[in-house]
Amino acid sequence: MFEKKHCRSLIDILDFSPEEIQDLLVTANDIIAHPEAYSECCHGKKLATLFFEPSTRTRLSFEAAMYELGGHVLGFSEAQSSSASKGESVADTARVVSCYADIIAMRHPKEGAALVASMNASVPVINAGDGGHLHPTQTLADLLTIYREKGGFENLNVGLCGDLKFGRTVHSLINALSRYPGLKLWLISPEELKLPSYVKKELLQEKNIHYVQTTDLEGCMPELEILYMTRVQKERFFNEEDYLRLKDSYILTPEKLHNARADLCIMHPLPRVNEISVAIDDDPRACYFKQVLYGKYMRMALILKLLKEAGTL
Ligand code: CP
Repeated sequence: MFEKKHCRSLIDILDFSPEEIQDLLVTANDIIAHPEAYSECCHGKKLATLFFEPSTRTRLSFEAAMYELGGHVLGFSEAQSSSASKGESVADTARVVSCYADIIAMRHPKEGAALVASMNASVPVINAGDGGHLHPTQTLADLLTIYREKGGFENLNVGLCGDLKFGRTVHSLINALSRYPGLKLWLISPEELKLPSYVKKELLQEKNIHYVQTTDLEGCMPELEILYMTRVQKERFFNEEDYLRLKDSYILTPEKLHNARADLCIMHPLPRVNEISVAIDDDPRACYFKQVLYGKYMRMALILKLLKEAGTL
């Protein structure tokens, strides 16, 4: 009963092959078309949401996903209300929660925490964000958005703008897109928030991906098919002065879209602070609220896949 069983988890989007991502996209599209066919798939199954860091979208969309699959949810939304506040380790927490739930979604401020949980849990673990490192389920939401807006992932011109240093959603999205041919990236950030050199070296340079590093958003606008705006990650700064100086580096306004393509897809993982003016929300190119909804469907598809692979469904 207490035997450690190895289960497939999702820690990094690269844990899944492009074929597996394609299968998830197909399932998510089928759920969108026929939600009633999935409403009892997880009857009697339980998802634990272990959130050691704040979240609105990721936690609630996981919960909504499990409810819409006919399952149940338990968990906590802050470290203070868990025994982590008494010093319990991530490894022990994962072992303990495996006794109560069939699958775990975990967010933690430390990079690598989800991996540690997956090595100690006996149920699948989903990384719902680990520090400034990765956020693979946001990437699943991003991929479904791109798939539905652009029809695929080949030969895309993508601008990533804002906090490319601490923005874990950007790191995961680059991981995912780097596997498709013809990708061109514009990395738009202040000098201090440039993409970490390990990501540039291990992914972009090794895979020979064309990229431009710039501070000039408007200058590259006409090239872009996708513009992925990000928030400056206040919670990762050591110094408030630096955050205040950098937080409004890029604010997308209707004027700044004057030379943008008519088929531009404007994305943002949210929450937004000031990066996108609300005046853009009604522009047909604004896709960030669709992205939120698509995240729920991809999380439904993901829960189904991991529970099936674990032999639970
Ligand atoms: N995009 C995202 O991860 O949002 P939350 O922090 O609200 O979960």
